[in-house]
Amino acid sequence: MSQDKSLRQLVQSGMSRRSFLRGVSVMGVGAAAGVTIPTGLAAAAAATIVAKKAAGEGTAEEATAVGLNFTPVAPSMEDDLLLPEGFTYEVLIKRGDVFTADGRVFGDNNDWTGWYPIDGLEGGNSTEEGFLIVNNEYYNTLFVGGYTGADGEEHTPEQIAEEKAAVGICSVHIRKEGDKWTVVADSVRARRFDATDHIAFSGPVAGADVVNGVTEVIGTLANCSGGHTPWLTGLSCEENYQDYYGENKNAESSGYGWLEAGANDQGQIPEHYGWVVEVDPYAGTATKRTAMGRFHHENVAIGIGASGKVVAYMGDDRADSSVYKFISDGTYDEANRDANLNILDSGTLYVANFQRGTWIPVVFEGNEDTLTDSDNVGGYTIGSQADVLTYCDPVAKALGATRTDRPEDIEIHPETGDIYIAFTNNSSHGNFHGQITRIMPADGDHESLEFAWDIFAVGGPQSGFSSPDNMIFDDNSNLWMVTDVSSGSLNSGIYSFMGNNSMFVFPTDGDYMGKAFRFATGPVECEMTGQTWLENTLFLSVQHPGEESESLENLGSHWPLGGNEVPYSSVVAIYGPFDQIGV
Ligand code: FEO
Ligand code: CA
Ligand code: CA
Repeated sequence: MSQDKSLRQLVQSGMSRRSFLRGVSVMGVGAAAGVTIPTGLAAAAAATIVAKKAAGEGTAEEATAVGLNFTPVAPSMEDDLLLPEGFTYEVLIKRGDVFTADGRVFGDNNDWTGWYPIDGLEGGNSTEEGFLIVNNEYYNTLFVGGYTGADGEEHTPEQIAEEKAAVGICSVHIRKEGDKWTVVADSVRARRFDATDHIAFSGPVAGADVVNGVTEVIGTLANCSGGHTPWLTGLSCEENYQDYYGENKNAESSGYGWLEAGANDQGQIPEHYGWVVEVDPYAGTATKRTAMGRFHHENVAIGIGASGKVVAYMGDDRADSSVYKFISDGTYDEANRDANLNILDSGTLYVANFQRGTWIPVVFEGNEDTLTDSDNVGGYTIGSQADVLTYCDPVAKALGATRTDRPEDIEIHPETGDIYIAFTNNSSHGNFHGQITRIMPADGDHESLEFAWDIFAVGGPQSGFSSPDNMIFDDNSNLWMVTDVSSGSLNSGIYSFMGNNSMFVFPTDGDYMGKAFRFATGPVECEMTGQTWLENTLFLSVQHPGEESESLENLGSHWPLGGNEVPYSSVVAIYGPFDQIGV
């Protein structure tokens, strides 16, 4: 590669995007960060990019120019999922639908989705039948149970049972009938893990005093986003666990009133939640992997390091919390799936210091003096690595973690290996619209403990989006992102420019790198999450439409059934000519 051409000149000279990026990726982080690009040319190219990006979200003309052959949708306040011309959607599954042979139901507020082909363990890659793992993050009390929390109102066992059945994880067996996807609702291979199921608890914290010695827990809660492993399991992330049994053992109340109602009568304590749950859809099992730490897990992005270790990037989605990565002790064995099934049980957890560009080990050994002083760690008593992993956030901060702007999804660029992080917002610091940040690991190696970083896109009226959340790359390395402006803020004040929560596509190189092209807008008061590609189908979660509804008589949304129906969180299948629009 010539050392004296700007990125833009290289693209214009006909070098394909893929070959150029492959060139960059083997040159190491210095080159990827632009060090080999002469300053003047780089500045000119950057100024051009900034000028194009500054003119609001991408237009139809700009979409065509960059090879995204669809007409972007306009901001909308309509109570529907609106898509570009040529694309349609159908509901695949919604709250309350039975999807297992033993009659278990799909929960509320579906989030992450992950695809596992039915013949995956035989080396196949079916695009006709498989398992779609779906998280059910939480529930809306108006549509589940009906408990309002009013003074003197009893929170009945029947309500709590309904609530416990509305959260957790579903492994849904789906099959293509003709050209449309359907649920195999009588499948004996479908699985449900809600707040009542027994779930294995493994890794360094299993059996420890801090979790009351358990090696199995009751239920999984607050399952937000997730991630894939190369050995065909799903990683489901427990995020806002504190709403159910509280933040820690000393809690006396919880957001949903479960503690007050005695819903913890099987020994459930908050320390049993807030972990990464590994789901094997083929075996029908779920296991909490404690070596990856306990915090408000958003998702997991897995990379394989230069020596073959498994590296998991993770965000703690709370204002002023941090970005982590876990590096396994063992190495990934592509030829032997069984050898990988417990690889996430041992390794080292690190937390990011963005000021120094380093990953700091989150470990007890060597930090005893700092961590045994409870004043340093939020009042917690830290006396072991199990304690460190259970109370990660105060420990990580005591060890030098950077407080960040709420890391939502993290995804790894399929060609460059850069790590993209959606920092959604941090209003207490005046960051109301968020940004997407890129981390470039030193030497392009995920196992490296040093990194550079920059900002890929910034939310606000100048870019068209606010509050980035879940992301996914397509086959051409475009970044697809969905927004999560809170329902109470949507379409008002400083958020008026965006309309309902939306899905945007960003080119990740070229003149329009980082420019937002709007592919979809969602129904009233929803956020969209959980994107999964499967050939010409895009599975998408539409979560909490109408969540601000005041009563069943005064609903904010009737999506997806219309009429006077209550709204349903649903997974939809979007059909259309994805192969023709440059993705
Ligand atoms: Fe459940 Fe951080 O989103
Ligand atoms: Ca999220
Ligand atoms: Ca969110």
